Amino acid sequence: MANTYKITITHYDSSVDLEPYTKTYEIPDDPDFAPMTALKALHWINRYHEPVAYDYNCRRGTCGRCAIMIDDEPRLACMFTLTGNHSFAPLSGFPVIRDLVVNKQEAYAKFVVSNHTIKTLAPDGVLKQIESEFWREKLYPLNACRECMCCYAGCQALNIFNKWGRFAGPGAMQEIYLRHIDGQDRSNRLEQAVFSGVFECVQCGNCTQYCPSLISCSENIKEMMDEAERAGMKPQGKASNYWPLL
Ligand code: SF4
Ligand code: SF4
Ligand code: FES
Repeated sequence: MANTYKITITHYDSSVDLEPYTKTYEIPDDPDFAPMTALKALHWINRYHEPVAYDYNCRRGTCGRCAIMIDDEPRLACMFTLTGNHSFAPLSGFPVIRDLVVNKQEAYAKFVVSNHTIKTLAPDGVLKQIESEFWREKLYPLNACRECMCCYAGCQALNIFNKWGRFAGPGAMQEIYLRHIDGQDRSNRLEQAVFSGVFECVQCGNCTQYCPSLISCSENIKEMMDEAERAGMKPQGKASNYWPLL
């Protein structure tokens, strides 16, 4: 185990800095902080070096607020144990407010637009009990989404092909998928997926790779793409001719 860690942090304060800049901090392997996670390293820097802006709440991997780029990959800071020297940067693709704090409003809005509350005319008492294995295997994992936005930060469709205006993104797509596979939902979720840009996904697999809730994001999206294509719902022409997401 390392005796000290070198942590390089990308700083930026949108109210004073023209450009982001990096600073490297040495921190000891302080037994009071063991195991030294990325979040604890930020606490240490804040306490013994200088202020750095970051967000967190639960400190145990459930709230999703501490997501940052660690060594260029989106991770939950509270769940990442340091192994040596690392770089911390704000989540890719999001406007930086200060240092590691980003504005996630646009992505949150995509979750809201996905409108995943069940649509049915059946009164609550008439809705059938969900079969337990289906709940455990399929629906429950989807409900574990922390809205951490790691999948958005890793998404190639959004961040390389700049589909932010046309694609609801991997997280919101899981909400649509949740109701698509729920046999008691009466709205056409496949159509919703198409209008939300499901065919903009380039199947890079990063959403599955980085999801701390272990949701099979890209596989679920592929399932909807294949079903929509079989149903003749795939738009013709270039992806840029698809409908913009409202
Ligand atoms: S598989 Fe699709 S939705 Fe998931 S990160 Fe890649 S492009 Fe984005
Ligand atoms: S799907 Fe996974 S990576 Fe995406 S917001 Fe939810 S928990 Fe985070
Ligand atoms: S602080 Fe809540 S997930 Fe890290």
